[in-house]
Amino acid sequence: MKGIILAGGAGTRLFPLTLVTSKQLLPVYDKPMIYYPLSTLMRSGIRDILLISTPEDTPRFEALLGNGEQFGLHLSYKVQPAPDGLAQSFLLGEEFLAGEGGAMILGDNLFYGNGLGTMLRTAVRRAEEQGRATIFGCYVKDPERFGVVGFDEEGHVTSIVEKPAEPQSNYAVTGIYFYPAGVSAKAATLRPSARGELEITDLNLLYLQEGKLDVELLGRSFTWMDTGTVDSLMEASTFVQTIEQRQGIKISVPEEIAYRFGWIGTERLLSAAEKYGHSPYGAHLRTVAQGKIRGVVE
Ligand code: DAU
Repeated sequence: MKGIILAGGAGTRLFPLTLVTSKQLLPVYDKPMIYYPLSTLMRSGIRDILLISTPEDTPRFEALLGNGEQFGLHLSYKVQPAPDGLAQSFLLGEEFLAGEGGAMILGDNLFYGNGLGTMLRTAVRRAEEQGRATIFGCYVKDPERFGVVGFDEEGHVTSIVEKPAEPQSNYAVTGIYFYPAGVSAKAATLRPSARGELEITDLNLLYLQEGKLDVELLGRSFTWMDTGTVDSLMEASTFVQTIEQRQGIKISVPEEIAYRFGWIGTERLLSAAEKYGHSPYGAHLRTVAQGKIRGVVE
């Protein structure tokens, strides 16, 4: 399975922070926001990734992440001329996917929790072996801001509604989606919604109607954050700071994930550390290379 990171949009809710830079390049505590969704896709075991962004910002992502070899990845880039909807990523990514299934993650979504990798890799397997799509639902207090999942009395998913005025539940659809081969052809059948976008919710509804959609609910041990507002951006930074200071080690470090998965060796890890110089991030990579932090990325 291949992966897509959608990192465009105008970021108007963060003005003036995003007047001359991309939202997904803003810091979340000690690293650019994009490192977090990139790490999440990597934990799914996905190594071939297309990053989609605006005409102005795509070159900046390319300058930051390059061809991905420092992360043991193959990274490529594609411009989205206008923010015409999340499902458009599968039209823009059609050539890249070349008939394979695709996972898409929003560049402003952060996922954290023990067992997340296993859950994501299960979604990849389900798409590849059973032709099923998987999305993840998470309990939130403000469901009207999101795509919302409705359930029947037995807990089966009956509906998904984008930003409902009267939400059917408190379960929001998170910004990571796994689809089987053929997803671009399905996305091509969608028509723009009332707000003029190709909606990811409409794509999910096609799989739901066919009985080919699994909705996994994230339990309390997981944290999901989107960083679309000034407050949620601040909250995300504080969250990462709290975890990293408490544990004394960093989270969502793509080079470390690549190293623990055996995608890069010690030499490449150390040369990445050199690039980051005397920053705490560089120091972290050197500590990982010395084998002082034990444990695996599950
Ligand atoms: O965060 C999860 C939510 O993401 C889901 O619950 C919703 O179902 C889904 O529609 C989406 O809702 P948002 O209101 O957060 O979507 P937004 O328009 O803010 O776009 C999400 C991110 O994707 C944002 O960082 C901008 C970027 N984007 C958006 C559009 C419409 C693009 O890169 N291209 C686009 O065309």
